[in-house]
Amino acid sequence: MSEKQENQDYDHKSSVRGFTPDLNSFPDENPKPSSGQEPFPFWLMIVCVILMIIGGSYVGANSGGFNFSNNHKPGYQASVPEGLTGKPPELSDFEKYVNGGEAVYKAVCNGCHQGAGQGNGQIPPLVNSEWVNKGTERFSQIVLNGLSGPITVNGAAYGAAAMPAQKGAINDKQIAQVMTYVRFKFGNITDSVVTKEMVEVARQKFGDKANQYSASELSGEDVMLEGDQPDWMSPESGDAESDDAESVESGEGSASLVLESNEQNS
Ligand code: HEC
Repeated sequence: MSEKQENQDYDHKSSVRGFTPDLNSFPDENPKPSSGQEPFPFWLMIVCVILMIIGGSYVGANSGGFNFSNNHKPGYQASVPEGLTGKPPELSDFEKYVNGGEAVYKAVCNGCHQGAGQGNGQIPPLVNSEWVNKGTERFSQIVLNGLSGPITVNGAAYGAAAMPAQKGAINDKQIAQVMTYVRFKFGNITDSVVTKEMVEVARQKFGDKANQYSASELSGEDVMLEGDQPDWMSPESGDAESDDAESVESGEGSASLVLESNEQNS
């Protein structure tokens, strides 16, 4: 190294080098912290890798390739316990019609004639009443215009109370349905219904009467309202319906409902 070069040692490399302390010559001074710095145990790493391989292959084998169609059954419906179809029982047209009448009865007649049609004091019963289960014309006259004065019902005399006219409170369909309900429920009549058209005619004939009927003014006990029965009341379907009703009672009906719904599932 020439003198010129030495003078140009601006970084002082040559002079500093001699004074650099040997780091290894003071081993005990400021020891590097060692606690908590142990390397991750190799065996634990192996265990983790094995667990990841097992878990990954399980998910891979059972996920259906994460494909939506492999995990989704189209049209799937959870199976239901026997007897529980999740659907309301299927009602025949006759039952639906009668149910409509029941609602009218509860809203209009129930307060006087009572829920079981047994009457109450001077209010006569509808159960076993010849005014209910005989001629429908006089029955419609009573409902349309009301009734007052002495009347004998199933052998017992009434007359102290009067029945108000219902023609302003309920329409023809409601009168037809409530008459059908009363005839079915309290008179056991299942072979015929009262239709809206029948009540329409009755209202035209009798609806203008100013005051209530007395029992002696009513039509005869054989006079039926004119009009056809609905299609669903034809003799064949009437028989079929009573068969249905029997099988529902014996439990067969509900079993066949379950079968039907199972067929839909498959
Ligand atoms: C405010 C009370 C009252 C209401 C509401 C009422 N009735 Fe009456 N009903 C009577 C009374 C009272 C008589 C008896 C009248 C008499 O003695 O002349 C009667 C008589 C009858 C009769 C003839 C007698 C018998 O017992 O068979 C029929 C049928 C009848 N009602 C049906 C109905 C129907 C159906 C309804 C509902 C649409 C109805 N009533 C609503 C009080 C009522």
